[in-house]
Amino acid sequence: MSALEATELYRFFHAGDDEVVALRGIALILNAGEFTALRGPSGSGKSTLLACLAGIDEPDGGVVSVLGERMTRRPEPERDRLRARHFGMLMQSGNLFDHLTVRTNIRLQMEISGRGRPDEIDDLVRSLGLDGLADVLPAYLSGGEAARAGLAVALAAKPAILLCDEPTAEVDAATEQLVIDRLIESCRSGAAVLVVTHSPALAARADRIINIRDGGIVHD
Ligand SMILES: Nc1ncnc2c1ncn2[C@@H]1O[C@H](COP(=O)(O)OP(=O)(O)O)[C@@H](O)[C@H]1O
Ligand SMILES: [Mg+2]
Repeated sequence: MSALEATELYRFFHAGDDEVVALRGIALILNAGEFTALRGPSGSGKSTLLACLAGIDEPDGGVVSVLGERMTRRPEPERDRLRARHFGMLMQSGNLFDHLTVRTNIRLQMEISGRGRPDEIDDLVRSLGLDGLADVLPAYLSGGEAARAGLAVALAAKPAILLCDEPTAEVDAATEQLVIDRLIESCRSGAAVLVVTHSPALAARADRIINIRDGGIVHD
């Protein structure tokens, strides 16, 4: 069984009389232990796709199944439960609670998912190059540090499915390597990993690259 299956996803947005087709029939399978890079120009639907796969957003058509359970067209609390149990997510923003330290953000994720141990937090934070930042509030972090702290939250519960939206957008090459190593490690331990990226270094490490344009997968 695949970790995640999406059939023919559609998502429309309306602004006044205009209709934006953010997703037009995207079908996708993510397998355990597979590292997939997702590329596409700005506005092509990458973030919308991630939100629909994780049940944060509801597609207007199509079905997402997670480890054999349907995610789409279910009440929000059920989608939240599925997400808490199976997903780690790094979005482009809003990954951390501003009033909680990095450590407490990570611990909260462990509590919500029921997995991971607080004594693992220091190693996790250090492995992402955030030494000395576990006990600060998110306001003290740079953009790149906040993204890595968000990734620490996403990795904390050793999720079966890891979805990351541009995890290395604001970091130098050495730090990018740290992030790539953590993603690969998560994959090796059995996670299905999907990463939106513009980074050639990251795409080079992927098992598979999916390109999207105007809400559809580009097959070459
Ligand atoms: N909540 C929304 N309301 C209206 N339009 C949206 C919304 N979210 C995304 N869109 C539109 O859908 C398209 C895809 O957006 P997005 O998924 O954010 O692209 P990407 O992440 O590839 O840059 C864009 O045209 C964007 O403007
Ligand atoms: Mg985006």
